[in-house]
Amino acid sequence: MRRSTNESSLIVSASSRSQISEVYRLLRTKIQFFFKDQELKTVMVTSSQPGEGKSTTISNLAIAYAQEGKNVLLIDADLRKPSLHRMFSSLNNPGLSTVLAGNSEVLDSIQETGYERLSLLPSGPVLTNPSELIDSQTMRELLEQLKPQYDVILIDTPSVLEVSDTVLVSALCDGVIMVAAAGKVKKDHLKKAREQLDHVNARMLGIVMNRVM
Ligand SMILES: Nc1ncnc2c1ncn2[C@@H]1O[C@H](COP(=O)(O)OP(=O)(O)OP(=O)(O)O)[C@@H](O)[C@H]1O
Ligand SMILES: [Mg+2]
Repeated sequence: MRRSTNESSLIVSASSRSQISEVYRLLRTKIQFFFKDQELKTVMVTSSQPGEGKSTTISNLAIAYAQEGKNVLLIDADLRKPSLHRMFSSLNNPGLSTVLAGNSEVLDSIQETGYERLSLLPSGPVLTNPSELIDSQTMRELLEQLKPQYDVILIDTPSVLEVSDTVLVSALCDGVIMVAAAGKVKKDHLKKAREQLDHVNARMLGIVMNRVM
C-alpha cells in the first residue's frame, strides 16, 4: 500500500490505528459533514507564517481521502520551498513550475505516489520568477482541466503573509484550510492572513490547530 518515504511526516497508513492517523480521518470527515451541500473539489491549505505544518497536514489529509476511495490529486503550489516530492520520494521535475512556464504538459508531470488513488503534481524546479508564473488565468485553466479527472484536488501553498501567490490561489479554490501552530501562531498574524483571504472572498473551511501538546 505505501512505499518507504524519506520523511516521517506521512503518518496515515492503512494499518495505522494511531490517534494521530485518526485525527486526519476526522478532519476529512468533518469537512465532508459540515460542507456536504457545497462543492468542495479544490481545497488548499495555508497558514499565516512559515513552518506551521501546512505540507504535513495536506499530505496526510490527501492520504486519508485516498484511503476512503477518492481519486485524489495533490498539488505542490509552493514554488519557492517545495517539499511534497520529498515526502513522497518523487522526482521534482517536471512539475507545476514547468507546466506554468510552458515547458511540460500537465498530464506528463503528474506522478504516482505509491499510495493507491493518490497522485502528485510536484512543484517542479525552483525558477527565478515564481510569482510571475502563477497568474490567475493560467492556474484557473489548469484546475479546470484537472477537475473532471479527480474527486478532490488538494493544494499546498506558501504561508499567506510570506508570498502573495497564496491569496491568488485561494480565490480559485472551493475552500481553504488554515493551519496554525499552537504556541507559535500570533493572533495578529492570523487576523491579517484571514483579512487577506476574506478580501478575495476565499471560503474558509476552518482552522487546524497543529502541534498541540
Ligand atoms: N503536529 C506535528 N508534530 C510534530 N512535528 C510536526 C507537526 N506538524 C509538522 N511538524 C514538523 O514541522 C516541520 C514543518 O512542517 P511542514 O513542512 O508541514 O510545515 P509547512 O507549514 O509546510 O512549512 P513551510 O512554510 O516551510 O512550507 C516539519 O519538520 C514537520 O515534520
Ligand atoms: Mg510546506
